[in-house]
Amino acid sequence: MFYITTAIDYTNGAPHIGHAYEKVLADVLARWHRMCGEDVYYLTGVDQHGQKVQQKAEAAGMEPKEYADMVMQKFIALWERLGIAYDGWAATSDPRHEACVGKILTALKEKGCLYKKAYKGFYSVRQEQFLTEKERGEDGNFGPEWGEVVELEEENWYFNLSQQIPWLKQYVTDHPEVVTPEFRRQNLLNAIERSEGVDLCISRPKSRLAWGIPLPFDEEYVTYVWFDALVNYISFAGYLKEEGSDLPEFEKLWPSVCEVIGKDILVPAHGIYWLCMLHAMGFEDKDIPRLLVHGWLNIKGEKMSKSLGNIVDPNDLCDAFGPEAVRYYLVRDTKTGYDSDYDPERLKMIYNTELANDLGNLCNRSLNMCLRYCGGTVAIGAEDDELSANLRNSMADTVKRFCQLMDEYNTADALAALNAHVGLCNGYIEQKQPWVLAKDETKLPELQRTLAHLLESCAQIGYLLGCVLPDASARILSQLNVDGSKLRPQTLAWGVLENGHTIQAPSPVFPRILSEEEKAKLAAKAAKKSQK
Ligand code: MSP
Repeated sequence: MFYITTAIDYTNGAPHIGHAYEKVLADVLARWHRMCGEDVYYLTGVDQHGQKVQQKAEAAGMEPKEYADMVMQKFIALWERLGIAYDGWAATSDPRHEACVGKILTALKEKGCLYKKAYKGFYSVRQEQFLTEKERGEDGNFGPEWGEVVELEEENWYFNLSQQIPWLKQYVTDHPEVVTPEFRRQNLLNAIERSEGVDLCISRPKSRLAWGIPLPFDEEYVTYVWFDALVNYISFAGYLKEEGSDLPEFEKLWPSVCEVIGKDILVPAHGIYWLCMLHAMGFEDKDIPRLLVHGWLNIKGEKMSKSLGNIVDPNDLCDAFGPEAVRYYLVRDTKTGYDSDYDPERLKMIYNTELANDLGNLCNRSLNMCLRYCGGTVAIGAEDDELSANLRNSMADTVKRFCQLMDEYNTADALAALNAHVGLCNGYIEQKQPWVLAKDETKLPELQRTLAHLLESCAQIGYLLGCVLPDASARILSQLNVDGSKLRPQTLAWGVLENGHTIQAPSPVFPRILSEEEKAKLAAKAAKKSQK
């Protein structure tokens, strides 16, 4: 089983390219594991509660639920457009989730992990949390990232986080696999080291914030939004579900879980709160989830933000370049775990070089030559010469490397490996010059072997690309008459196309993305033609 989840997105604003990156990355990994024959469950969704949604709803003259559901539709529509094939949808206002959060709170209270106390301090309205002295800047003030800061005295419910910290420290030290990449685990270990024995406030008074899950044992309060949101990974996996619920069987999904999150929510939310919450609930070490932490997509080195006005809407990119170009760019140009810069010029350049020129041309030329010179039938032809053997070996090495890199979540290098083999194939065409071989009847076996090698490469590459570009992959395989559902990456070997295999006429899968200048030139040419 491979249970993959992402962070759930706040419904106080529209989806942006950072949200899209995470969902595409998880989708690519989910599709990869499905291709490998594993049972996969992909959960994503939205985080609907909290002060920001309540405020936005008030400003829009709507009920919080109505507002959060309206924003949720924008996420759903975008994921559909981007081909995000999730199996479960987590929306935190779902009564099944609310019931689960209630049960967990009751159980923790019965175990003595929750207590009520009064606290006076500075509170950030934007971040919905009390601030400590640590959060003050050098000038003694709280920085702009905290928004409006007010002094508050409040009674609240607390989770005894500090008691869990010794266990957490030991666990994260002993289990390198808990956080990928390794340097992010080190960040977490440093944060645990610095943690000051502070417990976690898990309630908000209803008088201040009504839009949340009520505490089952104190009607004056709702649950702190992070406590509520983190539970989604188990509530929507069927943990403590009601009789007759249509949620999955928890034992089937857990603990084979990989939680894909951004670097900003590793500390303290996932790496500290979440792991400690699970431990307090009674989850054993073997049942602690793994966290795959990705970096941020920035714009020219800067954080995307409303105030800078540099937020990129993935819908605009889908309109301009098509959803698959966006998917390819996101997982090809970002090394999992590290930050990267979103740059539309690189999107166009990478798509045009690697897909339109390299792979697109390879498929078109190979299929066309097979039709023209061999009647559309693949024949094995002559024995391998050195160049052909080299190509065959490269294909085998590429498959192996691709599998290994995908298993390590390294999508960027996995795709680079495919592209390197495509480059070799294009070089092989130039060296072999099938159009010259076709002029000499005695060279037919060599011509057949050349085209068989090229088409075999197209089939294997087209198949492997399925986890990143499901539509393009299906189109390539259909032109090659290959049924991808019969293949498996681990057993992919030379001979997908047998002697006598027939192919279809090609139709371009990766039309070039044109610059405005190129478009204008083409339009002018067309206009000239129509005048003649
Ligand atoms: N609602 C919380 C997560 C709760 S999970 C139990 C949240 N929401 S968010 O909408 O702000 O972010 C959702 C995900 O998108 C997070 O993993 C976050 O790291 C990721 N990203 C937000 N901006 C991003 C970029 N600019 N780049 C890449 N991912 C980023 O946090």
